[in-house]
Amino acid sequence: MASPRRRILLLGGSGRLGRVLTSAWHDRHDLFLPGRAQLDLAEPDHLSSTLAEFDFDTLVNTAGLTSPDACEDNPDLAQRVNAESPGVLARVCTGRGARMIHLSTDYVFAGDCSAPLDETTPAVPVNTYGRSKLAGEEAVLAACSDALVARVSWLFGEAGGDVPSAVLERARRGDALDFIEDKCSAPTWTTELADWLERLITDHREVTGVLHLCHSGAASWRDFAQAVLDLGHEVGLLPEPMSTQGRRLAKFTGFRAVRPPWTVMDNTRLASLLGASPRPWQEALRLHLQRLAGRG
Ligand SMILES: NC(=O)c1ccc[n+]([C@@H]2O[C@H](COP(=O)([O-])OP(=O)(O)OC[C@H]3O[C@@H](n4cnc5c(N)ncnc54)[C@H](OP(=O)(O)O)[C@@H]3O)[C@@H](O)[C@H]2O)c1
Repeated sequence: MASPRRRILLLGGSGRLGRVLTSAWHDRHDLFLPGRAQLDLAEPDHLSSTLAEFDFDTLVNTAGLTSPDACEDNPDLAQRVNAESPGVLARVCTGRGARMIHLSTDYVFAGDCSAPLDETTPAVPVNTYGRSKLAGEEAVLAACSDALVARVSWLFGEAGGDVPSAVLERARRGDALDFIEDKCSAPTWTTELADWLERLITDHREVTGVLHLCHSGAASWRDFAQAVLDLGHEVGLLPEPMSTQGRRLAKFTGFRAVRPPWTVMDNTRLASLLGASPRPWQEALRLHLQRLAGRG
């Protein structure tokens, strides 16, 4: 049976994930895509009246202040955009009985141990971005008991602005290929994430609370970059094999916000919903690079 068509208000449609969701869903659902000029999350007090203009039954919030360094520099803005406004959106969803999916992050975790991080692991963020996102999760779930907080990590995909496109660019320019080797997470392909989120909208509206959505396995930035080089060569995006060098997170001075070193999320809850484990991140990366090479 075909999945029901939904009227989805998608926030953050111009972002890296939002662009992929738009292209994946626009044929099968009615999408409303207000941009920042129409609906500004920096102004929580104005949101309810603007939302009243849209006839939606589902709200997916991918919008946010997503750069940890920008959040560190603008903590008040981060609080309004990532925490207060999601709470307002959730209240509106409760009022009209709409399904709400709110995107969050592995950066809610402190990253100080290498045990699996499941949905019950206490979240203890170490930077302003993580604190504002955790406050957003709490505001959403307090205002809308049927909402779903979808935590994702290390997104890559067709919208670019991600690790694979940066690594390929550096390799082609002949830049140094040194990457942090002691910071780990689970890379996740936005094409597959779009499919998982769609199922949560159409088939699994009963799933609420916090859910981790990521591929299986773990990678350091260096592992991820090396896999891009290896698979990029294999699918014809790079003319020759190339090797990375490692750097230590503690010695890297380019970040203003502290980064959590280990944020590999456990995806067992997602696996039980899908009826199968999400594929390993390397397989997803291969599919993505094959598509970039015109072979997918
Ligand atoms: N990318 C990752 O690796 C990653 C990892 C973990 C979690 N996440 C989470 O996944 C979600 C999507 O991330 P992304 O990478 O797609 O983010 P992104 O590329 O940075 O896009 C952010 C979106 O939010 C919009 N936005 C920013 N400030 C706004 C405001 N004041 N009012 C309205 N819209 C505003 C942006 O609009 P403009 O075009 O107007 O700027 C853009 O559409 C976020 O919740 C993020 O925290 C992402």
